[in-house]
Amino acid sequence: MKKVSFAEFGGPDVLHLIDAEEPHAGPGQVRIAVRAAGVNPVDWRIREGQVLGAHPTELPSGVGQDASGVVDEVGEGAEGVEVGDRVFGEGSSTYAEFAVLSAWVRMPEGLTFEEAAGYPSVVETALRIIREVGVRPGQTLLVSGASGGVGSAVLQIARDRGITVIGTAGAANQDYLRSLGALATTYGEGWVERVRRLGRVDAALDLAGSGVIRELVELTGDPRKVISIADLGAPELGVRFSGVAGSVPEALAEAVGLIARGRLHIPVEKSYPLAEAAAAHVDSQAGHTRGRRVIVV
Ligand SMILES: NC(=O)c1ccc[n+]([C@@H]2O[C@H](COP(=O)([O-])OP(=O)(O)OC[C@H]3O[C@@H](n4cnc5c(N)ncnc54)[C@H](OP(=O)(O)O)[C@@H]3O)[C@@H](O)[C@H]2O)c1
Repeated sequence: MKKVSFAEFGGPDVLHLIDAEEPHAGPGQVRIAVRAAGVNPVDWRIREGQVLGAHPTELPSGVGQDASGVVDEVGEGAEGVEVGDRVFGEGSSTYAEFAVLSAWVRMPEGLTFEEAAGYPSVVETALRIIREVGVRPGQTLLVSGASGGVGSAVLQIARDRGITVIGTAGAANQDYLRSLGALATTYGEGWVERVRRLGRVDAALDLAGSGVIRELVELTGDPRKVISIADLGAPELGVRFSGVAGSVPEALAEAVGLIARGRLHIPVEKSYPLAEAAAAHVDSQAGHTRGRRVIVV
């Protein structure tokens, strides 16, 4: 089968499309014929060797954790799933023709394979950090870096729970944030004042890692009401860095419910063929993805 792989840590050009042995479903897993793979920033962070503590990586390595496709092997003990089911979920080396998933759910009606591949990691992350920051219905949540994959999920899940959201994003994404039900303003010079004008902030999430932890603490008045997923320096300012994934099966089940009720939609910014995975990484690394980028197989 064809698979994207890298044999050394480095820039996008270390990615190569190679011929590889097909993987097989182990106990509790399924194998899918991949139709699309989600591109997450962690994919290029792993490729660069930036996150070896959290993601120990043996070389050569495959790429990707999110995918959608059609089940073609069911591992021992994997229940409630059959060959031929259309599923999306999390696994490993998903930028490939076949991949093994350790958590999955059946695709709801109306969702395309391309769209589905964009959901797993961002929904798990969004649900986790909304829970950890402890924001309640009727309160206001500030989201710094709100137009990307995680931000798009946070905004819609918070809206569904009756939480008001103020989001920051670039000028080109202001209408996008409003379309997801958020109050919107731009980041950059003067952003703290612009946020204050939009309302009182009860809790805040740093999704962009753009060096705003001090300001988020100032706006909420309490470092315990701020969480970062992108600024490793946050704990020095008393702010929690959230990096340990919660339950992916629970997140996938909740995602399906939200999608079915029309409350969650992560747009696909751009699709890339498997052979252009390096271009997908270059674009993701530029840091201005709206929704998610996906690899189509
Ligand atoms: N710790 C964890 O568990 C965990 C989990 C998932 C992701 N992450 C990390 O969290 C980050 C976000 O993930 P993602 O998938 O949402 O990324 P993404 O889809 O690439 O989105 C990045 C977003 O950041 C915004 N942005 C860029 N510069 C900004 C600035 N100076 N101020 C505010 N916003 C800015 C962009 O908005 P514009 O396009 O509008 O400029 C873009 O929408 C990544 O660094 C990722 O590695 C961590």
